[in-house]
Amino acid sequence: MRRAAVLLAMLWPGLALAAEGREVFEARCAGCHAAAPGAPPGPGPNLAGVVGRRVAGDAAFDYSPALLAAREAGVAWDGALLQRFLADPEDMFPGLWMGANGLRDAADRAAVAAFLAGNGAGAGRND
Ligand code: HEC
Repeated sequence: MRRAAVLLAMLWPGLALAAEGREVFEARCAGCHAAAPGAPPGPGPNLAGVVGRRVAGDAAFDYSPALLAAREAGVAWDGALLQRFLADPEDMFPGLWMGANGLRDAADRAAVAAFLAGNGAGAGRND
């Protein structure tokens, strides 16, 4: 019983953050990005499983040379890189084709990173 309570207390803040991140994602990202594993890309690549996979990992999406170069260099997404990217996407990848400004609020960036980290692990190509 106690162990279950401790576990819940550990998980809950992460779950709440991810739920908040889903809302931010729906409002600010979903217009261009699918997040369901296997869904076709829209104007932007499918982001299912993006945390933990190489940059430019949606095999069905035609990426910019800027992201393909990062992929070739072996760069992979983790939560910290994603939050830095969302602070100023073009600053990280000059020549990016994203056409969106990222997120100004650090709390929104952390929430979206938490949502994406828990969403669709293993989807996309990682070779
Ligand atoms: C106007 C459409 C649009 C919006 C809105 C948008 N993106 Fe993007 N995003 C793109 C496009 C297009 C690319 C591919 C860019 C390229 O190839 O240079 C991209 C690329 C990305 C990548 C790299 C994906 C990979 O496979 O390596 C991430 C991560 C990302 N976007 C996250 C987000 C998040 C999070 C939001 C919401 C805060 C967002 N984007 C909002 C269009 C958009």
